[in-house]
Amino acid sequence: MDVYQAATKRRSIRRFKDKAVPIAALERCIDAARVAPSGRNVQACEFIVVNDARVLPGVFENIGGSVKLPFEKGGPGPDQHPRAYTVIVINRSWEGDPDRRRVTHYDIGIAAQSIILTAFEQGIGTCPILMINEDGLKKALKIPDGYDAGMVIAMGYPDESPVTEVADPSPDYWIDDKAVRHVPKRKLEDVIHRNGF
Ligand SMILES: Cc1cc2nc3c(=O)[nH]c(=O)nc-3n(C[C@H](O)[C@H](O)[C@H](O)COP(=O)(O)O)c2cc1C
Repeated sequence: MDVYQAATKRRSIRRFKDKAVPIAALERCIDAARVAPSGRNVQACEFIVVNDARVLPGVFENIGGSVKLPFEKGGPGPDQHPRAYTVIVINRSWEGDPDRRRVTHYDIGIAAQSIILTAFEQGIGTCPILMINEDGLKKALKIPDGYDAGMVIAMGYPDESPVTEVADPSPDYWIDDKAVRHVPKRKLEDVIHRNGF
């Protein structure tokens, strides 16, 4: 699989097979994120990998958005919850100046895409999640003072195959009567400006 294929074929997955994700596959994702670009090479992010069935529910309780919707609205069925997570946390002492947070958010996004694409290459589906209950997550994962939770990436072997279509014009995704997720994307011609606007 080449990079273009991975970038274009990947879709967010919110329904997962009842199959454990090996720690080695998850660590490969973190290793890719470890060397991702970061502003001034500060590398303020650390990564909590979760694949223990005893720990997974504590993370699920503290995430939100579509990954928590009922099945008919695009969420997971009762046996389709994420089987792993990567939680990107910010080490405040490495981050240094609190005004750097704006840059750290970009670092998180870029690191997340490295995780997402490395997972995709290994057949693992992902969903980036910013709707988090930070206090609950910190408690569930024993995240110490001095760290902030940045992003959760839900992971597991896909139990759905979302499709893309042209956004015409709404980009809102929708679920058809066969429970397939349709994810509208804007056309290249609608987003590209060549050599100036
Ligand atoms: C910054 C960011 C935050 C997101 N937060 C959530 C979230 O809290 N819950 C969720 O279910 N999906 C979340 N998503 C996934 C988006 O809904 C998804 O990327 C979008 O619908 C496009 O679908 P695609 O990833 O399949 O192309 C987030 C994505 C991004 C990039």
